[in-house]
Amino acid sequence: AIDIDKLRGQTGAITLDPGYKNSGSCKSEITFLDGEKGILRYRGYSIEDLAGKSNFIEVSYLLIFGELPTAAELDKFENTIRKYTLVNEEMKNIIDGFPKTAHPMGVLASLTSALTAFNPKSADVNNEKEMYEAVCKTMAKFLVIATWTYRKAKGYPLNYYDNTKGYVENFMQLMFGLPTAPYTPDPVVVNALDKLFILHADHEQNCSTSTVRIVGSSHAGLFASISAGVSALWGPLHGGANQAVLEMLEEIQANGGDADKYLEKAKDKNDPFRLMGFGHRVYKNFDPRAKIIKKAADDVLASLGVDDPILDIAKKLEASALEDEYFKSRNLYPNVDFYSGIIYRAMGIPTEMFTVLFAIGRLPGWIAQWKEMRVNKEPIGRPRQVYVGEQLRDFKAVNER
Ligand code: ACO
Repeated sequence: AIDIDKLRGQTGAITLDPGYKNSGSCKSEITFLDGEKGILRYRGYSIEDLAGKSNFIEVSYLLIFGELPTAAELDKFENTIRKYTLVNEEMKNIIDGFPKTAHPMGVLASLTSALTAFNPKSADVNNEKEMYEAVCKTMAKFLVIATWTYRKAKGYPLNYYDNTKGYVENFMQLMFGLPTAPYTPDPVVVNALDKLFILHADHEQNCSTSTVRIVGSSHAGLFASISAGVSALWGPLHGGANQAVLEMLEEIQANGGDADKYLEKAKDKNDPFRLMGFGHRVYKNFDPRAKIIKKAADDVLASLGVDDPILDIAKKLEASALEDEYFKSRNLYPNVDFYSGIIYRAMGIPTEMFTVLFAIGRLPGWIAQWKEMRVNKEPIGRPRQVYVGEQLRDFKAVNER
């Protein structure tokens, strides 16, 4: 509780809204979201249509530039991205400085920041050509370094982008390709990944996107702002939830596979444990992305013929939570991360890379939001506070304390 006496000395009225549950930070034309109705649209197009009919590169273009690309625009976008996929060889020295045990998200945040050293000039947001090149450069280099975090952890040689393949195929090639043999990723996996990236591509003013906007509002460059976004995404209450979901399922399995026991644990207010992959700040009805991804997960599991006891535990947990009064009354439904972890596992993606995949998907959203914030000449982000600490005190020398 705030002691009103302590508020003396504050000037003007301040809205106190921890977690910004009801505070808007900007006007935006990028993503529309209605948490009550479970609606998500990018630039006016429904997420269902985009996930069903479009592809990740097209959706990236849509988010960043405002319209779906024509065939010529799409071609140019893909070719310009290809132009920038070589990452400075000196970046490898930086990667080599990390221990193999480093979490890929920490390495990714650092490497994204390190890109500023090799690209010191920030693009002029009012110069369309410069911005276009900066967007393509970011899309290109981020994908490559994201996969390098995995190659490094495994001790494998780093792979290069294959210009004969598409962006999402290249993710698989960069991750799993062998320098000594041709590699063709499974099209089922590539299609599912493409869809997953679309579902993750933007989600208006979530924690990492707000971070990107606020860092960029000081006129920090795109790579620096995105590096901060990666750090924000890493947390288990945000993008890190997809890894946390799998770790939770593994723990349930290791302890005998009793999903209901964990359901009870999540309801116990004296226990800090939460059911990972359940609940959402804005979706209090259902997460429209979760619906699409659940279907994709079922398709991928069926077509890859995956038989995994972890997935049975997930299904049991989901079914029990959906019937449970505690979860029902608080509108806690499985969110996108609940299913994405499951689908990534079925695809053979290592658990510690799950949040990196989220970051790759979210990248166009971060870029679009950064660009919009700068083009709209938004002021520097600087929230106020209500001071509740000590009043003026006399300083005492160390021997008097
Ligand atoms: N398990 C158990 N109880 C939960 C859970 C959960 N996963 N999520 C919320 N609750 C309970 C809270 O304890 C609280 O109960 P109370 O009213 O009795 O005190 C009530 O539901 C409301 O929860 P809040 O924490 O107020 O909701 P908030 O909007 O602040 O948090 C969040 C949303 C962070 C996503 C939360 O639901 C959570 O921690 N979920 C697990 C982590 C997760 O899956 N994160 C991914 C989010 S999606 C994304 O980043 C793409």
